[in-house]
Parts: sequence; C-alpha cells; structure tokens
Amino acid sequence: MNKFYQKDIISIKDFDKEQLEEIFSFTDKIMRMDSTERREISKGKTLAYLFYEPSTRTRLSFDSAIASIGGNSLGISDISSSSTQKGESLADTVKIMSIYSDVLVLRHPLDGSSRFAAEVSSKPVINAGSGTEEHPTQAIQDLFTIKKEKKMIDGLKIGIVGDLKYGRTVYSLLHGLGNYDVDVHLISPESLRIRTDSTYEIKKRLSFSESTDIEEHIDELDVLYVTRIQKERFPDEEEYLKVKGSYIVGMDLLKKMKDDAIVLHPLPRLDEISTDIDSTKNAKYFDQAEYGKYTRAALLGLTLNQDGF
Ligand code: CP
Repeated sequence: MNKFYQKDIISIKDFDKEQLEEIFSFTDKIMRMDSTERREISKGKTLAYLFYEPSTRTRLSFDSAIASIGGNSLGISDISSSSTQKGESLADTVKIMSIYSDVLVLRHPLDGSSRFAAEVSSKPVINAGSGTEEHPTQAIQDLFTIKKEKKMIDGLKIGIVGDLKYGRTVYSLLHGLGNYDVDVHLISPESLRIRTDSTYEIKKRLSFSESTDIEEHIDELDVLYVTRIQKERFPDEEEYLKVKGSYIVGMDLLKKMKDDAIVLHPLPRLDEISTDIDSTKNAKYFDQAEYGKYTRAALLGLTLNQDGF
C-alpha cells in the first residue's frame, strides 16, 4: 500500500528526504501525463476546503489540482457565510465537512489548528496554513521549485529574506531544507528575526547565518526566497510601520546576484519585489505558483489512492 494513503499532512517535519523525493517524482509523473490520464487518478473523490483566513493561491490551486485528477471540491472560503457565525465550533465544523468529503483542507489563524482538526476528522486533513507555525504544502512546492529550476537542492546557498518571525512559509521551508545539505542565510530586520523557540530544532539539522544586510552574501546566493512582512500578525501597528518596506528586491540588487540565481516568493507580494524583476529569467515566483498546482495534485493523488498512481 502507498505509504501516504489516508495520512494527514500537518507538518513538513513529518516528511523525510526519501518521502519528499517520492512526492517530487509523483509530481513529475503528473506533469508528464495528458489530461485524460490525469483525470483517472482520483476520479469521483471530493475535497472539502475550510478557510478561516484569506487565500488566493493555496485554495485555488487545491481546487484546480483536485479537478485535474478527476475529483471535485466544495467548501467554505468565506467563514462569515458559514454557521461558525452562529457559534459552531471548529471541531463540529470539521466533523460535518469530513462527512461530505474524502479529504479536508484547512487554513486557520491558530497554531495547532490542523493537528486538532486531524484528531476530530474522520478523513485525512491537509494543513493549508496554521497560524505562524506551518504551511507544509507550500514548503513542498518551494522545494520542488528549487529542484526543478536548479536541478538539485544539495549544495545550494539559499537566502531567505523578510518577515522571519511571523512568516509560516519560512518555518516549513527551513524544516524541509533540513533534509538537504544546504547553506542558508537569513536576512531580516532585528525585530523580525527567526523565533528562538524554533531555531533550537532547526539548528540540529541545518546550518544558517543571520544578518540584517541583504547585500552581505548576495553575490553568493543560488536562491533568494523573498517573503512579505505579515502586517496582519503584528500585535501593534506601530511595530509594523517601523519595518514596512525594509527590503525591496529591484534591478540594482538583481545585478549583484549570480547570473543563474533564482528569485522565489510564496506570494502574495506587496512591494518587496519590484515588478520590473518579473520579466527577468531569474524571477521564478509565478512558476513556483504553477508548480503548486502539480505538487498538490500529487499529494492529493497519494492521499486518496491506496495503491498510488
Ligand atoms: N502562498 C500562499 O499561501 O498564498 P495564499 O495566501 O494566496 O494562499
């Protein structure tokens, strides 16, 4: 039996290198299939999505992914139109939605929400972003993008810049990178440095340096992963205003990078990457969003099919 069958996807920490590489080969396989063959993978299966926070890419790529493998989707993208407005709990909402579906995709502002949902759900739960803690399917998409665009992950020098305190994609990516032999350079304002409670665990598997200066190792990087400063997670707007616009990746900076370096961003972006970068060969953030559809189709196919595909 395929080892991912009926398994929750809660944390990237639950995946080792072998499992990640297996998901990447299934993603490659899906990308090579024609649409008729692809639609047989999870024919008739239903995905339910439950989003307590806004989303464009994650929700729509799951929607598109399940349709591409022959399934369908239903769900709640605007929580104000659901019975949570009448006071229904997360537990009851999850239990009901798992009755109507084969897999449940949850985004929620609280750390631990997906793990809790998995405990009460009768169907597998996929974490589509939980608080400031994790966004595992984004990390799988990010690692796949690096592998696809750089042809390897081991041996690369990767810069991660922006909001390292509140950005959940950063934590999942760092834990995912812990499976590889990479050199990581973290760049953030002093007040947005990576949280020390997480560094203890990350340091066991990954070597990284920290700086406030984006130019410090810019000419050595193979990958620059840019993140948005997460205004919505700041307890105090004054603190946000102090760091807003701290880093802007523009042509001047790009010219200092290796010719074949790639620029990634989980998106949405505000002003942290200038739009004139978009048309350069280095900009891979829109490809990254496209790969997200295929990595999610692979994850769904593996979760929903006993024998894989
Ligand atoms: N990258 C990401 O999670 O984007 P959305 O918030 O639009 O889903």
